[in-house]
Amino acid sequence: MKSVCSKAFACLLVGVLLSTLSLRIEAQQCRPSGRIEGKKPPPGQCNQENDSDCCKAGKYYTTYTCSPPVTTHTRAYLTLNSFQKGGDGGGPSECDNQYHSDDTPVVALSTGWFNNKSRCHNNITINGNGRSVVAMVVDECDSTMGCDADHDYQPPCDNNIVDASKAVWKALGVDSDDWGWLEITWSPAN
Ligand SMILES: *[C@@H]1O[C@H](CO)[C@@H](O)[C@H](O)[C@H]1NC(C)=O
Ligand SMILES: *[C@@H]1O[C@H](CO)[C@@H](O)[C@H](O)[C@H]1NC(C)=O
Ligand SMILES: *[C@@H]1O[C@H](CO)[C@@H](O)[C@H](O)[C@H]1NC(C)=O
Repeated sequence: MKSVCSKAFACLLVGVLLSTLSLRIEAQQCRPSGRIEGKKPPPGQCNQENDSDCCKAGKYYTTYTCSPPVTTHTRAYLTLNSFQKGGDGGGPSECDNQYHSDDTPVVALSTGWFNNKSRCHNNITINGNGRSVVAMVVDECDSTMGCDADHDYQPPCDNNIVDASKAVWKALGVDSDDWGWLEITWSPAN
C-alpha cells in the first residue's frame, strides 16, 4: 500500500499545517489560571437572600484571567446581582466606586471581558428570552479570586458571566421566579 505521505516534503507540509491549526484553536480557548480552596464563611457572612452561592470548605474553585473572545453574539450566562448598598454584590462597583440602584440596567463582566476596566461605562446589548436590553458595565465579576470578605464569601466567577441587576432581568421579560441563570448573547453597544 502506498503511504499518504510518500514524499518527505508533503509530510512536513501536512505536519506544519496541522500544528498551525491546533495553535490557532488553542489561542481561542481560555484555560484556567489556577484554583482556590473554599473556606467556610464566618457567621453572618455570605448573604444568601437571593440564592447567592457560598464557598464550601475544602472545595476547590477554578480561576480564570481570560474569557472567550468577544463577538457580535458572545455566548454567556446571565446571573443576578444587587449593586445597591447592602446588596449581595459586596463593596461598591469597581468602575466608579459607587453603588447602583437595582432599577438601573447595570452589569458586571467576568474578569477577561472586564479587561482591566477597559469596558467601564461602556454599554452592551444583551439578547435573551427573545428580547434585548442595553446595560452599562460598572463592575467586574472576579474570575481570579473569591471565597473572601471582598467577595462576600462567594466563589470566583466563571469566565463567561454577565452578572446583571434586577432591571436587566425585568427588561428581558423573565418571570421573577426564574431570575438567576439564563443563556444569553451579548455584544458591545457602542
Ligand atoms: C435581594 O433581592 C431583592 C429584590 O430584588 C432586593 O430588594 C434585595 O436588596 C436583595 N438582597 C440582597 C442581599 O442582595
Ligand atoms: C491595568 O491598568 C492599569 C492602569 O492603566 C495598569 O497600571 C495595570 O498594569 C493594568 N493591569 C493589567 C493586569 O494589565
Ligand atoms: C451608556 O448608556 C447610558 C444610559 O443611556 C449613557 O448615559 C452613557 O453615556 C452610555 N455610555 C456610553 C459610553 O456611551
